[in-house]
Amino acid sequence: MTSSKANPADGPERQVGSAAWELLLPAASAPARTRGRSLQAALREAVRSGRLAPDTRLPSSRDLAADLGVSRGLITEAYEQLTAEGYLRSGRGAGTWVGGAVRSARPRARDLAPRATGALADFVPGTPDLSMFPRAAWAAAQRGVLAGLPHHELGYPDPRGLPRLRTALAELLARRRGVVADPERLVVVSGVAQATTLLGFVLHARGLREVGVENPGSPQHDALYAAAGVATVPLPLDDEGLVMGPLRESGVRSVVTTPAHQFPTGIAYSARRRTELLDWARSVDGFVLEDDYDGDFRYDRAPFGALQGLDPERVAYAGSVSKSLAPGLRLGWLLVPEALAEDVVERKRTMDLGHPTLDQALFARFVERGDYDRQLRRCQRAYRERRDALVSALEEHFPGAEVTGIAAGLHVIAALPERYGPQERFLARVAAAGVAVRPVTEYAHANHAFGGHAPARAGEGGQPGVRLVLGYAHLPPTRIRAGVRLMAEATATRRR
Ligand SMILES: Cc1ncc(COP(=O)(O)O)c(C=O)c1O
Repeated sequence: MTSSKANPADGPERQVGSAAWELLLPAASAPARTRGRSLQAALREAVRSGRLAPDTRLPSSRDLAADLGVSRGLITEAYEQLTAEGYLRSGRGAGTWVGGAVRSARPRARDLAPRATGALADFVPGTPDLSMFPRAAWAAAQRGVLAGLPHHELGYPDPRGLPRLRTALAELLARRRGVVADPERLVVVSGVAQATTLLGFVLHARGLREVGVENPGSPQHDALYAAAGVATVPLPLDDEGLVMGPLRESGVRSVVTTPAHQFPTGIAYSARRRTELLDWARSVDGFVLEDDYDGDFRYDRAPFGALQGLDPERVAYAGSVSKSLAPGLRLGWLLVPEALAEDVVERKRTMDLGHPTLDQALFARFVERGDYDRQLRRCQRAYRERRDALVSALEEHFPGAEVTGIAAGLHVIAALPERYGPQERFLARVAAAGVAVRPVTEYAHANHAFGGHAPARAGEGGQPGVRLVLGYAHLPPTRIRAGVRLMAEATATRRR
């Protein structure tokens, strides 16, 4: 049995398949004396338990009576009784629906997705402007793919990814990032996060129990490696990148780095440090994971090629569309050194049998037709404008602030003059004014096993200065300016 036509004035209607009514069958075969009450109890329980969801339209009393083999009067009576109790409601005209009074009984899925802070101005880094997602071009690519995809491509894919996408990506990455891109060693993954986990598992299987990470750095790296049973060893940075002495002394044989635009400090690894890092990797027979999370965005400096281009046998290179299109797509790539390739592909296979085919085919088309380059250019223009708005607003409202890491990426570091300290007081005032910011210290590892980069500079009297990581890509220039002004007002007014 299916329900009859909806009454749109009563809101959304749910359809019920015949299976849902089978739970009334035992009641329908109860002895005649108790049948009416049994039916009411069964219907009440079905609503209360959520098996009949709110706004589900019930069959007509005639249909249900026929289906259950009982008299229509019993069903009418049950409907009336449960309507009086609030379990059901009768709509305008004919029709009976499950009421909203028992809504809480229905299990509802909770949404645990990270959300924006809801602040008046939200400078928390990590998100691109999701309203710039190219919906029209994406929809066109989707239509094209669905029209042309051969049936066999809907089967399980090559765990490395569709050859068409790996070919397109290899060409794109070689051209844009200077990587040595062999499509045979490229694995399509669900983001840098999965690339990190895959490598973690592979390194763990080879006996590695520790991997070095930048300090300060992305908290993601610790969590992802921990999931693979690999501990992270925080290592200090200077203005050129990871400091070599502590790295050598640490005993680790692998490190994760963000050399194009270190997260969060924004420094670009110097040419010298890149060479030293690769020399070190060779000397310990180890590997470097290059997390190129925002390497697509560079504004006023000559593009740095990826580290991987200098030694593809020592560097695993990972990137994704999380900053260029949307993190929700969960789509990325990992280029692996030959020595790791087989193990990584096998891990990917046993993890999920490969990335979703339609998404891959769609993205391949998107790249092949130049849509991805167009999107990158569009974002680059918008983000440069936003970066400029942020830098000039900081100059205006926080004179003397040192703003660094501005040449690339989607966030900057603002080191404020000492008079704004101490940091806790500054952060409390800014938060009270409705501005969300993150200090660099939030990305510092608590455990400075091998010394640490001082994330907050020591000010006079030992007071730490205020160093903020300010994400700007998701905010239009007017919001950026208003947010910086708000932050300045909140911290200036109260200081008097
Ligand atoms: C430095 C860094 N690496 C990796 C990731 C995860 O990226 P993906 O969405 O590609 O898994 C993030 C997420 O924001 C990040 O900040």
